[in-house]
Amino acid sequence: MTEQEARKREAAKRALTYVESGMVVGLGTGSTVAHFLDLLGVALRQGALTDLVGVPSSNRTVRESGAHGIPLGTLAQYPRLDLTVDGADEVSPRLDLIKGMGGALLREKMLVQASKRFVVIADESKTVDRLGTVSPLPVEVVDWGWEGHATYLEEQGATVSLRKESDGVPFRSDNGHLMLHCRFAGGIADPGELHAGIKARAGVVETGLFLGMASQAIVAGVDGVRVLERPR
Ligand code: A5P
Repeated sequence: MTEQEARKREAAKRALTYVESGMVVGLGTGSTVAHFLDLLGVALRQGALTDLVGVPSSNRTVRESGAHGIPLGTLAQYPRLDLTVDGADEVSPRLDLIKGMGGALLREKMLVQASKRFVVIADESKTVDRLGTVSPLPVEVVDWGWEGHATYLEEQGATVSLRKESDGVPFRSDNGHLMLHCRFAGGIADPGELHAGIKARAGVVETGLFLGMASQAIVAGVDGVRVLERPR
């Protein structure tokens, strides 16, 4: 296991301490969450946790949870979740996030908005001073007329690309939508304003800006694991 993977696993391990028997837990998507699902499966098999239901944010997470024997439900069955655990592509000092490079941002955000608590797990490479400096911002859009959103995003200062699969076919989210990746030279000056402007457009499904949503971020680095609280 690489050092980075070991750190992701450390963050995931700490997140498990937030999980209690009987909880309904939103399950994010990605390589960091993969460690969390593995550890959660072990805790369930060993009987350290019981009566737990996971609500998955993607088809990938359905598959991985199934492999670890985690009982699953849907958001329709469980409209209120105790906790969601998910990774992030960037974490700002205010615990604002960019998410969605795993392609699952819409369902991830729906789980978070249904959750009492949202715990982010990440290795320290995800921490940034300003959002948009390392990761592109993913924006999920319906395919009809998507080029108009690209033009709008370019007018906001972004360099925009349509996410594609390795064979060149446009990527489709689990919801059947397209994904635009937006790079901002020097980062995003005002994430709230940018998010509001993009969301106001008909045909935009959701943005990867998760602002004011995270309760804690568990960040694993060279000096161990830090739990960051959202400033009030
Ligand atoms: C999935 O759509 C994303 O929001 C992920 O949470 C994010 O990309 C982090 O993924 P990794 O844990 O694989 O870096």
